[in-house]
Amino acid sequence: MSKPHGGKLINRCVFRDVDLNDANVVRVNADRAEDIENIAHGVFSPLEGFLCRNDLESVLDDKRLDNDIPWTIPILLDLDEKELAGAKEGDTIFLTHENGMVSEMEIEEIYTIDKKKVAEKVYGTTDPSHPGVSMTFNMKDLIIGGRITLLKEGKKPFDEFLLWPKETRILFREKGWKEVVAFQTRNPPHIGHEYVQKTALTFVDGLFINPLIGRKKKGDFRDDVILKAYETLIQNYYPQDRAVLSILCTSMKYAGPREAIHHAIMRKNFGCTHFIVGRDHAGVGNFYPPYAAHEIFREFPDLGIKPVFFRSFFYCKKCGGVVNEKICPHRGDDIINFSGTAIRKMLKNGEVPPPTMMRKEVAETILQFDRMFVE
Ligand code: ADX
Repeated sequence: MSKPHGGKLINRCVFRDVDLNDANVVRVNADRAEDIENIAHGVFSPLEGFLCRNDLESVLDDKRLDNDIPWTIPILLDLDEKELAGAKEGDTIFLTHENGMVSEMEIEEIYTIDKKKVAEKVYGTTDPSHPGVSMTFNMKDLIIGGRITLLKEGKKPFDEFLLWPKETRILFREKGWKEVVAFQTRNPPHIGHEYVQKTALTFVDGLFINPLIGRKKKGDFRDDVILKAYETLIQNYYPQDRAVLSILCTSMKYAGPREAIHHAIMRKNFGCTHFIVGRDHAGVGNFYPPYAAHEIFREFPDLGIKPVFFRSFFYCKKCGGVVNEKICPHRGDDIINFSGTAIRKMLKNGEVPPPTMMRKEVAETILQFDRMFVE
């Protein structure tokens, strides 16, 4: 099993009741509430809170925290003057969310950011049509850095699928899995996803399928659809003692290569030793070259989780099976790519995609949903 990132699994959970009547309380949105729980439960180890300026600058310029530990995606708390309600550096505030989450935060620093610089560094573009860039431009003006303590957990959707790092670590140990490969996804599985996972699993003890549940862009598949589709795939096509399905509650950033590193770090904290990176990992539109997320790993020989790289899988009519360009010489009309767009279109029209693209059982499961996509 991998050691937690930074050497120690962070635990900032101290569950207790607090009287919030006279306290300085700020209601945060769903993304920030998820960040808080991920920090508290060690998913974001070694972070103990939201980034202060020195760490942010270092993450932007060097893709590392100020103490040189790899970290590529800024985890920031943004508030406006009114929400901050006069709280100053050194004060304690309480962050709450409508799902019941309550946390305490020691304000270490209040600062502002150059949003253009953040967008350029994290997403490689300032084009507002990039969903991560528009999210950055919409951030409130004050950034609050400091340690958090989770006092009460919020109610989360699909929590029957939720395992925290300390739980997955126990589970992997119980299963006797020494080497575990993690698979990040934001989609229901097509045949390419299945081949990537099974090829990687061939070389290790277990597969950790870890769909990202949380805010995604319009047109992406809904979380309930993704989960049901995976349950169906695993039931029908996976050895039950070799695969674990568990969710990761965090928003998609669509930051391509930088997000691939972030995805790997979170899975390292769950105890995984390997991390799958395929074609256009965490990409959107044509913002990143298809294998940019492979190349960035060269900058992190000290990451502590091994990337498993895959070229794009496709169906080859000549080979009569699923292959990729590394192992198959055929191109052009001989091959059928697993096009997410084509699959979405067929499902939208109520059609079952061909079995060369998606398992029939998976497609039929998806077609049972009235609402398949994020609106
Ligand atoms: S992502 O935003 O989470 O990366 P998606 O759920 O489609 O999107 O992909 C999950 C993982 O599978 C990523 O590592 C991605 O690169 C990989 N992947 C998706 N399709 C293919 C494919 N046809 N061949 C190889 N890898 C793929």
